[in-house]
Amino acid sequence: MLVFSQKSKLTTYLTFQTSEHMTIGFVPTMGALHSGHMSLIKNALKNNTITVVSIFVNPTQFNNSDDLKKYPRTLEKDIEKIKKISDKVIVFAPSVEDIYDKSVKSVSFDFDGIENQMEGKHRPGHFDGVGTIVKKLFEIVKPNNAYFGEKDFQQLQIINKMVAKENLKVNIIGCKILRESNGLAMSSRNERLSKETREKAAMI
Ligand code: PAF
Repeated sequence: MLVFSQKSKLTTYLTFQTSEHMTIGFVPTMGALHSGHMSLIKNALKNNTITVVSIFVNPTQFNNSDDLKKYPRTLEKDIEKIKKISDKVIVFAPSVEDIYDKSVKSVSFDFDGIENQMEGKHRPGHFDGVGTIVKKLFEIVKPNNAYFGEKDFQQLQIINKMVAKENLKVNIIGCKILRESNGLAMSSRNERLSKETREKAAMI
């Protein structure tokens, strides 16, 4: 399985591998992969010639440095999990420097106010960070189709808004929520819950 850690190498590889009739399916993630991610990857594999999965914990979408520090980072395990599905998936796991160079900052987007509702109300700047990294990744991978979980409903609306406003040539495909046996939506952050809070969270 190919794993790239530099955007220039990935871009060169994709330029030589793709032709007009091929499609690139892209699944952006922050790692700590679970079955929800796996279903996005399977969807991309089924419907595209090439599938790229990015694993990058994006610092600009965290408005709390402790949260960023504690975010689970499990790259080796993630690669093993992907390999079990298909060794044809291309993994892109860059460093912060490779993506942001010396300026680890968000671009300011106009999402028509969606960014100030719900989650955005409690995480100022979060969706600018999401828009910034997703746009950067789209520029690197140049996908035809990009897959996002419907679990992050607001994020999905933000991405759709960005794609429409910036006239980006990519289809955004929202994929169904996958749940644990107690009903809790699968999420990388569930790893940070204790047994007790994981049970309680199922009420949501
Ligand atoms: O949903 C996520 O995991 C992240 O917000 C994303 C889309 C990969 C951007 O960092």
